[in-house]
Amino acid sequence: MDHDVNGRLLDRPAIEPPESFVAQANVSDPDVRAAFEREWPDCWAQAGRLLDWERPYDETLAGGAAEPPFEWFAGGRLNASHNCVDRHVDERKNQVAVQWEGRLGETRTYTYLDLYREVNEFAAALRSLGVAAGDVVTLYMPMIPELPVAMLACARLGAVHNVVFAGFSAEALANRMGRAESRFLVTCDGYYRRGAATNQKNKADNARIGLDHEVEATVVVSRLGDETHLGDRQYGYVDLLAAHEGDRVDPVARRAADPLFLIYTSGTTGAPKAVTHTTGGYLAHVAWTARAVLDIKPEDTYWCSADIGWITGHSYVVYGPLALGTTTVLYEGTADHPERDRVWQIIERNAVDVFYTAPTAIRAFMKWGSEYPARNDLSSLRLLGTVGEPINPRVWEWYYTHIGGERCPVVDTWWQTETGAIMVSTLPGADAMKPGSAGMALPGIGARVVDGDGRPTPPGEPGYLVLDRPWPGMPTALATGEGWADSHPWRSADGWQYVAGDEATVDEDGYVTVLGRVDDVINVAGRRFSTMELESSIVEVAGVAEAAVIGGDDRSTGRAVYAYVSPERDCPGDDDLRARIEARVREAIGPMATPEAVVFTPELPKTRSGKIMRRLLEDIANDEPLGDTSALRNPEILGEIESVVREEP
Ligand code: WTA
Repeated sequence: MDHDVNGRLLDRPAIEPPESFVAQANVSDPDVRAAFEREWPDCWAQAGRLLDWERPYDETLAGGAAEPPFEWFAGGRLNASHNCVDRHVDERKNQVAVQWEGRLGETRTYTYLDLYREVNEFAAALRSLGVAAGDVVTLYMPMIPELPVAMLACARLGAVHNVVFAGFSAEALANRMGRAESRFLVTCDGYYRRGAATNQKNKADNARIGLDHEVEATVVVSRLGDETHLGDRQYGYVDLLAAHEGDRVDPVARRAADPLFLIYTSGTTGAPKAVTHTTGGYLAHVAWTARAVLDIKPEDTYWCSADIGWITGHSYVVYGPLALGTTTVLYEGTADHPERDRVWQIIERNAVDVFYTAPTAIRAFMKWGSEYPARNDLSSLRLLGTVGEPINPRVWEWYYTHIGGERCPVVDTWWQTETGAIMVSTLPGADAMKPGSAGMALPGIGARVVDGDGRPTPPGEPGYLVLDRPWPGMPTALATGEGWADSHPWRSADGWQYVAGDEATVDEDGYVTVLGRVDDVINVAGRRFSTMELESSIVEVAGVAEAAVIGGDDRSTGRAVYAYVSPERDCPGDDDLRARIEARVREAIGPMATPEAVVFTPELPKTRSGKIMRRLLEDIANDEPLGDTSALRNPEILGEIESVVREEP
């Protein structure tokens, strides 16, 4: 079997979506991209129409497409909480809005009416504590229903939420609250992690000490149910709801460009950056992609397994599905507790229609073995999605076969915290799939692959992935043109462009294959190898579950490929496996790419959002002090890897 430069198998045909899927898809018109082109930018009114506007917008895009400022849905006013909650109550008040699956097996069900009541009561409570439109409210909670309730309560008041991932430290919380000058905090007493209770309130209290400004009010949700000491200006969530029982708060109409929330990037390559998303453009883009790409219907049960602390959780656990009035599943636990079929149990129990997860999770499922999904009835599934990293073709095939039963299309969705919503993906009801390739730019999205001079690269040649037209979900800094000028790569050779920082190729059909972050590309004696290309060939070797490659120092070539490999369960990391890996890379890519060293490790170092941290592996290989490890989920693995590397001859 041969690979093209994308690590895609050349002899594998493109896979057409099943007719049964196409027949029911929200979007199945093969002409949809051309139709969007003809009408651009007014085509995006299709997204605007998915929302209720308190005041209709005058122009889809004001200011033209040539350079910032760009203003989407100019003149329009709306409220996100009204769009995600109130308007569904009339039609389907008893439909489940949020289905919560707790860590200890407990469940909670919020209908749209339940959600409406609690969002209103909590908005009333926040208002009584002094929260007003434009204030930044920090939310520091695990995956519990009070988190989306608090987000929607903020949105109702026109306040800007700032969700900080619950697993972050007190210092990280203080940093994110400090930078946003956030004077309000909603947190919880604690929560269970790997069977043990963690003290979240303690971390929140410590963060407050590290702040330069006063926190006006802290609300504490009781997750553990123990008695919590509430200090000065600290309030219990349940007490507040009781005090505001039956209260209603009119949604505050916001301008389309007003901020809905801020969020920090995950920081695989640098310091986390604050990104602000707008109310109108963001919500329209998220709703449209949830409908066209994730094919969400109001009657569906939909599950995105991302943590709400990341952009994927904001856009596709909370805002997208709720804007469309569907049932969104919220899962507090981990995929392997109490058993490795927990995810499949939840899908069976809730008859989940659409499942959206990350390659890192799929690689873990694959490593554990297909007997776990096989134990459960997954026939309710109609569509599968992935996001967050390139997905190796072999992993794609596994997902398609063992989870989707070769019946469900897989959408490989490329986007970023900065883009707010999906940008590149197949439309599952209209496009053929090519495993390992995300697909074409979505209708109305301008995505290109260019060389260092901004010229489009020929098919199959790697280059920089750039977005050369404004899009509705663009963040405030890009829309106004007032942010990131120093910290972000910009190129203006050919008009306005946003350089995404990813390396990619595009094929004759316009399918984009993302190779990885530009910083992750390895240069061996002048030849550039993508981490995706190399890792895909290694993952194809029987017995390999996951691989990460990096560029290490080498005496002769200057730079050499180092491979870190996590074998499948039951497969020893021995010389035989090493030899097969080397042979495969030589054959698939070339002798120059043959790894200088193959290091076996039970796990790869990953960020808390599941991305492989190649930067740290590089530090180990080059015998340099480890860089910032604060974003790591499994820091203990570094010591293990270091000790193995030192033993290498
Ligand atoms: C990577 C997550 C390949 C990419 C929504 C991007 C992907 C970064 C894909 C953004 C995909 C995301 N294929 N790579 N389908 N989706 N990425 O900000 O490098 O956490 O720039 O947003 O993830 O990560 P972020």
